[in-house]
Amino acid sequence: MVAVVVCALGQATPPGALGAEVAHACSSLSQVASRRHWFWGSSFDRQALNDAAFVQLVKTHASVLVPENALKWTVVNPVPGIRDLSDFTAIEQRFGPSGMRFRGHPLVWHEQLPEWLETATPETLREHLRQHITWLVGVHRGRIHSWDVVNEPLAHDGQGLRASLWLNALGPDYIAEALRWARAADPDAQLVINDYGLEGDDPVSLLKRQSLLQLVRELQSQGAPLDAIGLQAHLHASAHGPTFHSLAAFLAELRGLGLKIVVTELDVNDQDLLDTVAGRDQRIAEIYRDFLMVLLAEPAVEGIMQWGLSDRYSWLNHEKPRRDHTPQRPLPFDRDLQPKAAFEAICAVLALPKVVERSTQ
Ligand code: G3I
Repeated sequence: MVAVVVCALGQATPPGALGAEVAHACSSLSQVASRRHWFWGSSFDRQALNDAAFVQLVKTHASVLVPENALKWTVVNPVPGIRDLSDFTAIEQRFGPSGMRFRGHPLVWHEQLPEWLETATPETLREHLRQHITWLVGVHRGRIHSWDVVNEPLAHDGQGLRASLWLNALGPDYIAEALRWARAADPDAQLVINDYGLEGDDPVSLLKRQSLLQLVRELQSQGAPLDAIGLQAHLHASAHGPTFHSLAAFLAELRGLGLKIVVTELDVNDQDLLDTVAGRDQRIAEIYRDFLMVLLAEPAVEGIMQWGLSDRYSWLNHEKPRRDHTPQRPLPFDRDLQPKAAFEAICAVLALPKVVERSTQ
């Protein structure tokens, strides 16, 4: 007997249909999410610290922050012997007093590495990694409750592990070792493997899921401490995609392996949408709704982090610009910090009155 949780609000409900009523009921995304026992969070970059209106928006709607760049290796240890936590400290000082919680991102990644590290021998590289994790996790012990220990370890084409500096120099054991060092530095922190391209029904995502499941099984057979999987969820909009028909079964597999699930970087890239602004916003809202409806039905999901809350600071504007040079509209609030159809869609899903269980056979 397979039990499927189905939300009371069906897929047919168009985003925006509940309009002002839902927006009013949803004066804080994190508050309405907490009724679902979810957190709602955001990334935050130091460059936005002096933007009082944006800071207020983040305080209103997020209960968890992740520094977008402030804990990356090139920022915290740009040259040997120099350790610089000033960017994260500034963010923590601004938001910590109001009760904000923090995720850490990322301990091991193939990007944003300082040049000096890339010329290290395999033996010294391993020792640098051990020291980096031990220091960064240890110094934030009790203040960062969840870490992206290994970020993007899977190959871009979905086939096995990424041929990164780490894999090439240290072999696949670098993942288990990183997890063990992180656990030793803060036994209470949640340890996460975080990756992108796992959400949709496209062939690469299906392949990547299998690579992830194989990695998890290998780590578990070695007794490596892994608590959760992070789905980055940088969703890419098209007129009819992405779709999420196979996502529920994948999430259930992760749960079956004893793992929690965190959505770590949710946004919707509308680089390829050729429509009016209103049409684009509507399509983006539908994608948020369809994705969150699947997540809501999965008990292993702990919460959602967005990669920013407002289009004002989205990475997509500089990394994935639109061909018509108009700004991307990936997040629930526009560049003027006004809510869009995506916000209403998120609210509508989070504010669903109840879930009902239905048997499929
Ligand atoms: O801080 C320097 C600044 O001093 C300099 O003047 C400026 C000139 O370009 O660059 C600034 O650094 C940039 C940094 O963002 C802060 O704005 C880097 O060049 C730029 O590469 C960096 O991009 C970040 C990117 O990761 C690479 O680290 C994006 O902001 C950030 O959103 C993005 O986040 C990643 C996640 O970590 C992992 N998942 C994918 C996600 C999106 O790519």
